[in-house]
Amino acid sequence: MLEDDIDAVVALIESHDEDDAQEAQRFYREFNGCYGQFVLEQGGDVIGVTGFEAPTGCDQSYWISWTYIDAQHTNRGLGRKMLTELFDYLQQQQGGRKLFVKVSDYVDEEDGPIYAAALHLYESMGFSIEVQHDDFYDVGEAQIILGMRLQQEQDHSAVAQQQVAIQFNEIFEIGETEGSWSFGWHEQKGGGSDAPFTAEDVQTGLGAVREEGARCAFLSFPSNYAGISEPLFESGFTEAGSLKDYYADGIDEVHYAYTFNQKLLASNSNEI
Ligand SMILES: CC(C)(COP(=O)(O)OP(=O)(O)OC[C@H]1O[C@@H](n2cnc3c(N)ncnc32)[C@H](O)[C@@H]1OP(=O)(O)O)[C@@H](O)C(=O)NCCC(=O)NCCS
Repeated sequence: MLEDDIDAVVALIESHDEDDAQEAQRFYREFNGCYGQFVLEQGGDVIGVTGFEAPTGCDQSYWISWTYIDAQHTNRGLGRKMLTELFDYLQQQQGGRKLFVKVSDYVDEEDGPIYAAALHLYESMGFSIEVQHDDFYDVGEAQIILGMRLQQEQDHSAVAQQQVAIQFNEIFEIGETEGSWSFGWHEQKGGGSDAPFTAEDVQTGLGAVREEGARCAFLSFPSNYAGISEPLFESGFTEAGSLKDYYADGIDEVHYAYTFNQKLLASNSNEI
C-alpha cells in the first residue's frame, strides 16, 4: 500500500461502514502510515486491503489491521486468498510466532451481523476466540479477540513470576468505543514491593473514569506479573480471558473488565 492508495482504501472501507472508514483514515494518515499495509488490486483498481502491526514489547506477535474486500467483490474467495498470502508472509518473512485479530459482533438493523463473514473466515483459517469483552464497543456490541499460532510452541518452563510496582498515570476512552475506558500505567523503576498496586489505586481510577461517563473499564497485564488479580478482583473487576503467549511463549496478556452499575450511574450516586 502506498500513500496514493489511501483515498481508494478509505472508499472501499466506506462501502461497508462509514465510521470504520473515518477511523481507518486516521490510522493511515496520523498514526501508522502505510507500513505493513497491503492492497489487493484488480485491473489497477484497489479492491482489498489488509496488513499488520507489531505491538511493542512482544516477541514476534502481530495484530492483523484493517481488513476489507470491496462490498461489490465479497464472497468470491478473495478475502481468504489475501489473508492466506499475508499469513504466509508473516510466518516466513517476518518470523511471525502468533497472530491476533479483533472482530465486533455488531448486528446492523438493515444488513445484519456485518462481521459474521470475518469471524467465520478467521476461525476457518485456524484462529480461535481467546478473549470476549461484552458491551465493549457499545451496549450490546462485544469485542472478540482471536489468536492463531504460526510457529511451534517453545519450551517455556523457565518463565518466572516477577515482583513489579505499577503506577497508573492517565485515563482514556478506548478508541472506537462509546463509554469504554482504560487506565494508562507504567512500571516504576526500583519497584518490587509486596503488591504491584492497591485496590485503593484502582478505586481512584474507577472514580475518575466514572466522572467522565464511563460504562465499563478494561485493563490488561502480562501474566508473569505477580499479584495483579487480587487488587483488581477486590475492586470489582472480573477476568475476561487471556491472549495466550502474547508477549512470548509462556507469557500471556490477561484481560480484566469492570462494568459500572447502570442503575447507580443513572441515579448519579457517588457509590461505585
Ligand atoms: C471479511 C472479508 C474481508 C472477507 O472477504 P471475502 O472476499 O468476502 O472472503 P471470502 O469470499 O474469501 O470468504 C468469505 C467466507 O465467509 C462466509 N460468509 C459470507 N457471509 C457470511 C455470513 N453472513 N456468516 C457467516 N459466514 C459468511 C463465506 O461463505 C466464506 O466462507 P467459505 O469460504 O467457508 O465458504 C469481507 O467480507 C469484508 O470486507 N467484510 C467486512 C469487513 C470486515 O468484517 N472486516 C474484518 C474486520 S476484522
